[in-house]
Amino acid sequence: MCGIVGYIGQEPAAPILLDGLSKLEYRGYDSAGIAVFDGASIRMEKTVGRLRVLQELTQNGETMPGFCGIGHTRWATHGCPSDTNAHPHMNREHTIAVVHNGIIENYAKLKAALQKKGYEFVSETDTEVLAHLLTEYYRGDPIKAIEKVLSRVEGSYALGIMFLDHPHHIYAARKDSPLIVGFSGTGKFIASDVPAILKHTRTVYYMENEEIVSLSMEHIRFYNLDGEPLEKQPVTINWDIHAAEKGGFPHFMLKEIYEQPKAIRDTISPRIQGDDVALEELGLSDEQIRSIRKINIVACGSAYHAGVTGKYVLEGLARIPVEVDLASEFRYRDPILEADTLVIVISQSGETADSLAALREAKGRGAKVLGIVNVVGSSIAREADNVLYTWAGPEISVATTKAYSCQIAALYLLALKFAKVRGQIDPSDFSQMLQDLRNLPEQVEQLLGQKEQIQFFANRFLATEHVFFIGRGIDYAISLEASLKLKEISYIHSEAYAAGELKHGTISLIENGTLVVALATQENLYPKTISNIVEVKSRGAFVMALTNEDHKEMEHTADYVLYIPKTNRFFTNSLAIVPLQLFAYYISLGRGLDVDKPRNLAKSVTVE
Ligand code: F6R
Repeated sequence: MCGIVGYIGQEPAAPILLDGLSKLEYRGYDSAGIAVFDGASIRMEKTVGRLRVLQELTQNGETMPGFCGIGHTRWATHGCPSDTNAHPHMNREHTIAVVHNGIIENYAKLKAALQKKGYEFVSETDTEVLAHLLTEYYRGDPIKAIEKVLSRVEGSYALGIMFLDHPHHIYAARKDSPLIVGFSGTGKFIASDVPAILKHTRTVYYMENEEIVSLSMEHIRFYNLDGEPLEKQPVTINWDIHAAEKGGFPHFMLKEIYEQPKAIRDTISPRIQGDDVALEELGLSDEQIRSIRKINIVACGSAYHAGVTGKYVLEGLARIPVEVDLASEFRYRDPILEADTLVIVISQSGETADSLAALREAKGRGAKVLGIVNVVGSSIAREADNVLYTWAGPEISVATTKAYSCQIAALYLLALKFAKVRGQIDPSDFSQMLQDLRNLPEQVEQLLGQKEQIQFFANRFLATEHVFFIGRGIDYAISLEASLKLKEISYIHSEAYAAGELKHGTISLIENGTLVVALATQENLYPKTISNIVEVKSRGAFVMALTNEDHKEMEHTADYVLYIPKTNRFFTNSLAIVPLQLFAYYISLGRGLDVDKPRNLAKSVTVE
């Protein structure tokens, strides 16, 4: 989604803004712009395309002198990607400049009212409404004008604003779109995410919904929407700066695939204590765990796929009925939630608009909400009753890998804990499964060693147009994620199918040479999946199978076979997904695509 950076301080602003925006590129964008106060006026440059174009246009910011400015990378919602629709947006007099993330839902009504008053619009964006509305309400006090504007807008926003009348100030506000404020010895910052300012400071304030802030050389002042001052405490970010850099890898995605052993270890190790799973952060007593009647898992995209795995594992081990919903569906389907329902919201960013709305819906209906979240202090983490953090570290590549792997690891822990407390698991099986969990990071490392073999195979299929991923049970859940990984970064059409379902229609799409990736890691379903492989092979499919290392006979059935080391059948997803992430990566690489920033996509989807 869009990215915001703002700076006021002792150093030239434009290079800091451009550098900050480059750290937010991972969020996805199609145009970029900056506005800087140059001592007399607010100067603005904006352009469609990559940040590189803006850097060239401004000679890395040198043509835009000044010590106070705001910048933006835009991911188009209202109006196509274009120079005009790019942010910042200014009023006609060029005395007010605005950058905005989110959506102003009632913008059409506001626009019509402003047009009646004679305001002229140059862009198709919802954001331009804000520039004109600020002009309408501004009487010399920026905070008062912002308060009035925000009382009229509906929707979500993170805003950075400059007023020519107050040239050494930046103003900002947020509602349902993330924004942080940071400060160092030499300046003050606003940003949509930590990497943008990590180089300059680790001391930040997380802005809450409906807060306004004013930043100058001397102060940072927070207000509520009634203009009353607020006291806030800064927090220290303990991210390693190198975690937000590529560290010698050609792409963030490959780096993050390679970080999975550590990420999984960091997520599970502190929670396996002796022969038990320690999850105090759940805030649930054993009695409460025993009284859960149903679990609803809600998430989007890959996090939803983690939830599908979670359903199999939680039902299989803890014997609790689980429903999994896409957050965008859940929030509007009038879900039936009782007091003994536990709702689990899974999200890497903790800012996904639909997941956040689903969380609020669930809380509003009296359910207890547990977040499985990666970004500390994010909206979902703050609003959930309790949080089970995944310790994947910052994930930059748009396509998730390590955060997904940590989400399923967190769900394993939860399932084991619930199974034990509810008396559904034999103590010796429990101990063996803890050992299997501890072994996962090393086994993932082992699989990463197959990278050349996978690259070689991927290169054979660079020109393929359709791929099907099939599997049963947990193998179906793996297929969903493997298929999404491939299509989102390679632009190859791909579908995941429950292997037994294919013959109910979709098998008609299989023809000579169609690539079918068959997952067969579930021992109890192995013979059934073999039958499904034979079905597609006899219709001409080329089958790449992925199975457990002791099923060498698969080579008699499939055309190409990848193996995963032995683990408990509930945990095979953690291993099987790794070669398939690499497969997607090498296909995208081989097709010459932008692996980390696929077209049309954003890292954190903060609009509905
Ligand atoms: C795909 C991907 C997305 C996200 C989805 C939810 O690789 O990353 O499908 O999983 O947008 O995002 P979070 O987990 O941030 O809520």
